Amino acid sequence: MELIQDVQVLQQRMLDERAAGKTISFVPTMGFLHQGHLSLLEEGRRRGDVLVLSIFVNPTQFGPNEDFDNYPRALQRDMDLAQTTGVDIIFAPDASAMYPAGSATLVHVSGLTENLCGASRPGHFDGVTTVVNKLFNLVQPHVALFGMKDFQQLAVIRKMVVDLNMPIEIVGMPIVREKDGLAMSSRNTYLSDDLRRQGLSLITAIRTLCRSALAGERNTARLIEQAREIISAQPSAQIDYIQICHDLTLQDMEMVDEHAVVLLAVRFGATRLIDNHYLLQQPA
Ligand code: PAJ
Repeated sequence: MELIQDVQVLQQRMLDERAAGKTISFVPTMGFLHQGHLSLLEEGRRRGDVLVLSIFVNPTQFGPNEDFDNYPRALQRDMDLAQTTGVDIIFAPDASAMYPAGSATLVHVSGLTENLCGASRPGHFDGVTTVVNKLFNLVQPHVALFGMKDFQQLAVIRKMVVDLNMPIEIVGMPIVREKDGLAMSSRNTYLSDDLRRQGLSLITAIRTLCRSALAGERNTARLIEQAREIISAQPSAQIDYIQICHDLTLQDMEMVDEHAVVLLAVRFGATRLIDNHYLLQQPA
């Protein structure tokens, strides 16, 4: 496994791999790897000859009052974990290498970015699509893997790839959870035991809603109300949004059908957790 931090070195290396006829698979991350990231790497390993992992805490996707400075970073630990999945190249550039002074270009996907996290984190998705586009240009992957944990991010990236004619297959991977159902996230390390317990209300709400929907409840307003009751019973929970949206358009739905996904974002203390689930699929 090779660590590359220089942008030009990485790009030249990837041009050479392509010229040699290698299939390149790519998993972009912000590091502090957990089993969710590793599941993407394992699938990436199966799909490509050369597996590239990027680790870059991207400043442009964090708002001014968000956790960019505190975001957990542990490169050596991440390298050890990455090695176990057969990563060939780790790309871990500095912010100054990715955004030299004078960078002036943003990639903006309209529509899909307006609802949900786009509404509560202005500019977030412009930061995501810009950095992912740059990473794609550097790594030049044939296939790139993303988690459904960030459901809206996956939809936005799929849209960018179609709209900009990028010759890249985007693979969406299922959410990996802790034994008790909490969706794995690098941000879970911020949670005290008490807040972590309260955070389990997200999966409790998801399970309750899926059960109701599968038992025949189709009215999304009533389902959302059920989730709101469960989550707001937690003393530290501050609901950012609970919405039921169409999986492709991300527009709010009035009645549940097989496209309906419940998406939740809730702050527990200073930590914002997100989760989602298809309502008519058996709950995790
Ligand atoms: P990060 O939060 O590090 O996540 C990297 C990838 O891992 C994303 O595709 C995310 O959806 C996936 N992932 C995270 N937790 C997961 C879980 N519990 N199960 C399955 N997949 C999971 O998402 C980002 O970084 C950034 O926005 C990035 C795309 C790298 C751009 O900066």
